[in-house]
Amino acid sequence: MPTRQDTLWEQLLKPVISNLIDREKLERFAQSVDWDAETQRITNPQTTYPRYYQNSFHGIEGGYLTVTAAVTYDPITQYVLPPQETWVRQGAIDRVKVQPRRILDLGCGTGTTTLLLKQTFPQAQVIGLDLSPYLLVVAAHKARQANLDMQWRHGNAEATGLPAASFDLISIALLFHETPAAVTQGILRESFRLLAAGGQIIILDGNQKTLAQMPWLRNVFEEPFIEDYAAGNLDAGLSAAGFGAVQTEDWWLVHQLSQGVKPLPGATPQPAAAIQTDPGLDSLGEIPAPAF
Ligand SMILES: C[S@@+](CC[C@H](N)C(=O)[O-])C[C@H]1O[C@@H](n2cnc3c(N)ncnc32)[C@H](O)[C@@H]1O
Repeated sequence: MPTRQDTLWEQLLKPVISNLIDREKLERFAQSVDWDAETQRITNPQTTYPRYYQNSFHGIEGGYLTVTAAVTYDPITQYVLPPQETWVRQGAIDRVKVQPRRILDLGCGTGTTTLLLKQTFPQAQVIGLDLSPYLLVVAAHKARQANLDMQWRHGNAEATGLPAASFDLISIALLFHETPAAVTQGILRESFRLLAAGGQIIILDGNQKTLAQMPWLRNVFEEPFIEDYAAGNLDAGLSAAGFGAVQTEDWWLVHQLSQGVKPLPGATPQPAAAIQTDPGLDSLGEIPAPAF
């Protein structure tokens, strides 16, 4: 699918950011990886790609299933999360109220938030799951560089195949502005299934209110489902999936942070400030080892 040429990204940001990127460094990294072997190693042959996923995102032809997407994702993302990428991502981590022992980052991409989670909760088992084997190769590389013991899984966040009630924290960063509304809801339902009672979900993404009010902002990048996302309401989606203590707050104007809790059985909805995790989580078996 050809990329759109009329976005602010193509006309203004891409030329500017292209000049800021160290192309030789990217090229060296791209050349240093045996992409065929590494992607094959991480690919789960049972994973099928949903139709929406074959679109171009961010003006990258072939979407996320390319080496180009994998090596350019981080260098570009650092410039498109104002005011500063780490501050923006850290906001989601700062809202974690559980003491997580098992953490799942859905749509983890190159694992930037996943690594932050592991650094913040070093005792926790942390798994990043994504549909792109290419981005997962980069995530695994970053974890090795940082000497962090983490797991990476190739799979669809709508149907992960992971056991029910096996996590106490699920994080989702920058995914839902790229998914059709029905897929978003499917991922929220799967998150609810995967969390133990008392477990928490945290979601960082574009600010739906701001996007709804500022049409030009929806046109900055080539995002095929941004209209769906801007018209939607993540709080309603979280509640419909069964979450309690649902809340969304503005974050640096153009982002938002949403959270919710899987209620304890028979519990009345709790405020987000006082969360208890189901102690039964400890008695669950190990998450099966991934291929990578
Ligand atoms: C904008 S990137 C965000 C990546 C990362 N979470 C971050 O914060 O940088 C969106 C990611 O979602 C992944 N993705 C999209 N649909 C997915 C699905 N159904 N299941 C798993 N990953 C998905 C893409 O492959 C991509 O890595």
